[in-house]
Amino acid sequence: MAIERTLSIIKPDATERDLTGQINARFEGAGLRIVAQKRLHLSEAQAQAFYAVHKERPFYADLVAFMTRAPVVVQVLEGENAIARNREVMGATDPAKADTGTIRKDFAQNIEANSVHGSDAPETAAQEIAFFFSAIEIVG
Ligand code: RTP
Ligand code: MG
Repeated sequence: MAIERTLSIIKPDATERDLTGQINARFEGAGLRIVAQKRLHLSEAQAQAFYAVHKERPFYADLVAFMTRAPVVVQVLEGENAIARNREVMGATDPAKADTGTIRKDFAQNIEANSVHGSDAPETAAQEIAFFFSAIEIVG
């Protein structure tokens, strides 16, 4: 297994409820080191651009409204097999379908307000990390 980096976002439903610390503890407990982190309030244009892959989906406008309603915490997580590992720690998109002990099972409110984002493949991880961070902001 290789050391990978993945892009994580702690979403507005979680920052609104002050869950950043508890979610970070899940990552660190799973061997995912937080090698970059910043809190941002996304503009509509930024959220539209980040989720452009979903722009034809029926939930796109709602998703952009949700992601811009409060701050987010964007992060780079690093570790063995980090992309898949983070998806395991996050749990399924719909918290009703998420496994016990996952972040979404324990914290998410519904399929949209599901507390965290994680990159889904090496190519998207590289693109999403570059969307938010420059190389000198990532300290492994
Ligand atoms: P993410 O990209 O945020 O890590 O989540 P994901 O891969 O598990 O899910 P994806 O299919 O990529 O969807 C992106 C985000 O859009 C919202 N969503 N809403 N209302 C709905 O049916 C619906 N479906 C998805 C969620 O916030 C989801 O994480
Ligand atoms: Mg996704």
